[in-house]
Amino acid sequence: MDKSHYIIRGGVEGRERLRILSRLMRPTSLDLLQRAGIRPGMACLEVGCGGGDLAFDLARMVSPGGRVVATEIDEIKLDIARREAEAQQISNIEFKLADVTQDELEQEFDLVHARFVLTHLPTPEHALTRMRRALRPGGIVAVEDIDFRGYFCHPDCGAVRRYVDLYTQTVRRRGGDPNIGPRLPALLSGAGFEAVQMNVVQQAGTSGEVKLITPITMENIAEAVVAEGFASQAEIDEIVAELYAFARNPSSVLSMPRFVEAWGRRPTA
Ligand SMILES: C[S@@+](CC[C@H](N)C(=O)[O-])C[C@H]1O[C@@H](n2cnc3c(N)ncnc32)[C@H](O)[C@@H]1O
Repeated sequence: MDKSHYIIRGGVEGRERLRILSRLMRPTSLDLLQRAGIRPGMACLEVGCGGGDLAFDLARMVSPGGRVVATEIDEIKLDIARREAEAQQISNIEFKLADVTQDELEQEFDLVHARFVLTHLPTPEHALTRMRRALRPGGIVAVEDIDFRGYFCHPDCGAVRRYVDLYTQTVRRRGGDPNIGPRLPALLSGAGFEAVQMNVVQQAGTSGEVKLITPITMENIAEAVVAEGFASQAEIDEIVAELYAFARNPSSVLSMPRFVEAWGRRPTA
């Protein structure tokens, strides 16, 4: 399966980063799913599920009677997710190796969700068309994605500016859009969804994981940044050290990217 468009380290280390990201995102993602209309009994598709944290929540939200299919292109993350689902005794979930840009899922779902996946795809419109086809008429789509232009910090920090610059350039070079967030409503409408709505989420803080996710992400994109020739490993090591120092300083403020949520329905007719 082709993973060359994806700039963030996969496998076990990538899964550990996603665990932190999922803890940060959990409250707003669950709110989004409630607002979009998730209910017990539904069949849900989680696209690009990563380590499966949100898929586990989905499986609990649709119980009793509902089920979740969670897809991913990274087999190592899928294996970890299967083991964790078993350990958490979640039985109404199935993890599948599938690329949203290529593989059709021959099933009808009530709800399809994707978080931080469309940003990495050269043609997110094609993925959304596949997601629409995977829904029954009247089924719900909910997506969440980033706008890297929303990053901010106080006081000004050169390492944060350089990180935003390197992340942005590298995602673009691999064909993605690091600022896809505000495009989501139009992308959903263009893919044939109706009753499209949106919401903006911005997280920032003075301590904890909301700040640490920035140096952790810099470490996890280093390989792609170096491979694309945007920085040397030596420069990245310096940026990572500065970002950790900035994140651990209780008098500094550091945000995450701006997040845009969008949701809608597949038309009934
Ligand atoms: C930033 S991670 C987000 C993971 C998870 N959705 C979350 O929010 O915790 C993006 C995930 O999408 C997966 N991915 C990338 N391209 C994909 C594709 N074409 N089809 C399915 N999954 C893909 C990556 O392997 C990665 O695990």
